[in-house]
Amino acid sequence: MSEISRKIHHIKKDLGIFFTPQWVVDFMVSLINEDRLAHGDLKILEPACAVCQFLYGIKKNKPHIFKRTSKMIGVEINRDMVEYVYRYLSEDVEIIHYDYLLWETNNYFDIIIGNPPYGIPSLSEHYTIKIDDETKNIYKRLYETWYGKYNLYGAFIEKSVNLLRNEGQLIFIVPATFMILDEFRKLREFLARNGKTEIIYMGSDVFKPEADVTTVVLKFIKSSVEKNKLYLYDYNSGNPKLITKNEDWKGDIVLFSTEFSKKVDEICSFRIGDVYAIRISPRTPEIKHNPDVIKSQDYIGDKNFLPILNGRNLKIGKVVYEPITGYWIELTKKTKLRKFFDKPHIVVGLGFRGDGQVGAAYDYKAYPWMGDVYHLLRKRTLTNMRFDLTDEEVVSFLNSEIVKRYVKDVFRDITYHFNITQLKLIPLPTKEELKRLKEVSI
Ligand SMILES: C[S@@+](CC[C@H](N)C(=O)[O-])C[C@H]1O[C@@H](n2cnc3c(N)ncnc32)[C@H](O)[C@@H]1O
Repeated sequence: MSEISRKIHHIKKDLGIFFTPQWVVDFMVSLINEDRLAHGDLKILEPACAVCQFLYGIKKNKPHIFKRTSKMIGVEINRDMVEYVYRYLSEDVEIIHYDYLLWETNNYFDIIIGNPPYGIPSLSEHYTIKIDDETKNIYKRLYETWYGKYNLYGAFIEKSVNLLRNEGQLIFIVPATFMILDEFRKLREFLARNGKTEIIYMGSDVFKPEADVTTVVLKFIKSSVEKNKLYLYDYNSGNPKLITKNEDWKGDIVLFSTEFSKKVDEICSFRIGDVYAIRISPRTPEIKHNPDVIKSQDYIGDKNFLPILNGRNLKIGKVVYEPITGYWIELTKKTKLRKFFDKPHIVVGLGFRGDGQVGAAYDYKAYPWMGDVYHLLRKRTLTNMRFDLTDEEVVSFLNSEIVKRYVKDVFRDITYHFNITQLKLIPLPTKEELKRLKEVSI
């Protein structure tokens, strides 16, 4: 063990913390593209640096780059960590004790590398990153990609892209959720228009057992020439293997693909979003506070009342019309909750239920619903006139092995729940196409 590695090991033990495994640090350092580095002095930055594992990773693995560096900066918010680094390690690097997201500098960097913190900032007990409302509002004002329930790591990416010089490189290990979730819509567009994006899928084991999170390494080159390029790779024991590329990427969600998923895409002329409008059920607070809703765990012996159903009433291929939620509403008032509760339609559960299984059923009695259930309402537009599957046939297709495999192939394990964008993208075949699909999927 080198002198530096031994010191970092002690610091980690003393502070009782776990950071990026060394093999990941080494791999990320190996991704530095030396051909793109400017001639002359270099500036390197590690945001949320903790014990500066990445800066020292460069010193260890690429000493020739380290020697050419005129500025090596780490920014860290935790005072204990800063003091430790000063005491044990600081001879080479400048540590700045500051919130990276509020830090200002006149420097532009050749390399920005690290492992930014992730989490939804909030003081609420449900969230891990405790940030007061005032700071959160400042973040919201400062970051153009802030959207919905934004995650800190998204703001770290935006800030870092802005601090790169033209042709500079950003190498971060981050959760994979920005590839798919709607709250990263603006971030994806921001990346697409500012340079070339490479994503290397690392899976969910990197931070186990401390954290169970599916991660990717994001390698981004800021460039006015190479914009709108996206390359997606598998880690493949340190030799990234290309899965897909898109050289006209506008920031759409990033999907994996396999031979099978490509075949399904090729055969199916439709996607759920072409044929159905998707609606979500009313959430629990809305139901709770609705004056028309009655709470009763027992059967209401009045035929005019219907139990409000939720995800537990939805089995694969079947709706169980039993009172489970304890909420009831008068039959004549159910459409006051949602207009579409007046017509039979397809209901879909939010979860993948393990291995890519979509849970869909046909609500032929048109009951009222609440919670994590999506509603597929058939559009009556010209574009889907050619679509000839009935709703019941669509339900059986959605519950099929074909869709199960497709969902697993294109979304992998990034999320456990569908969002509307993902659901819209699931392919749907016509009757004729379904026959062909069955042949290829054997
Ligand atoms: C290596 S990072 C994050 C590791 C991992 N991705 C996670 O989220 O747990 C951890 C370090 O980031 C620091 N940190 C967190 N928020 C920060 C901020 N806004 N500015 C600078 N440093 C920050 C923490 O003090 C900690 O030392």
